[in-house]
Amino acid sequence: MNKIGVIFDLDGVIVDTAKYHFLAWKDLADHLGFEFTETDNELLKGVSRVRSLEILLDIGNIELSEEKKQEFLISKNEHYLQYITKMGPEEILPGATQLLDTLDTLGIKYVLGSASKNAPLILKQVNLYERFAGIVDGNSVSKAKPDPEVFLKGAKKLNKEPEHCVVFEDAIAGVEAANTANMISIGIGDEKTLHEADFNFNNLTEIPDNFFTEVISEKI
Ligand code: BG6
Ligand code: MG
Repeated sequence: MNKIGVIFDLDGVIVDTAKYHFLAWKDLADHLGFEFTETDNELLKGVSRVRSLEILLDIGNIELSEEKKQEFLISKNEHYLQYITKMGPEEILPGATQLLDTLDTLGIKYVLGSASKNAPLILKQVNLYERFAGIVDGNSVSKAKPDPEVFLKGAKKLNKEPEHCVVFEDAIAGVEAANTANMISIGIGDEKTLHEADFNFNNLTEIPDNFFTEVISEKI
């Protein structure tokens, strides 16, 4: 069991912040005069803030100066923070706390591997910050998912071989990053969307009791 390390994505796995990103990006789209739907918002899952803005502007068919882009990145984040700073532990997604408890019991260490620069703040808001053995977030990587950098840095923090790391992800870019890093990828969400994952579950409550002791142990 000591061989295994776990890396969790944050948004969409431990908390559902996509709805807040949506409200903040939609506000910007409204300001710029085009429609931005929840379906469009799916394209922003797992990608960096800068890349999210580029995708949004593509949808609106809008070109902006670098200066304007920087201005909107700041105002969008300020708007997003208004929602984030109101979050509490009740927003932890079903099964997440139980899964961390199981890992603690098994003596398996876990770290965070998130694209978000707000990850430490969000973990503090929901009272989970202290539980993680380390945090790799959007501030500590130079290449965004699907680049494996975030997870390889996570493996270093865990002091584990990449092939002994298990990654929980809800985004296609994140599953791809985990696979490229040679880790075991667990897709959380729609199986059809995340078909490249090694294992799929709709949410964290579906992880079977013997998942680490038998299923994963047999694979590594
Ligand atoms: C990811 C989200 O976790 O973080 C993306 O899935 C988001 O939707 C990205 O764009 C960056 O977040 P932040 O908090 O740095 O703007
Ligand atoms: Mg995510």
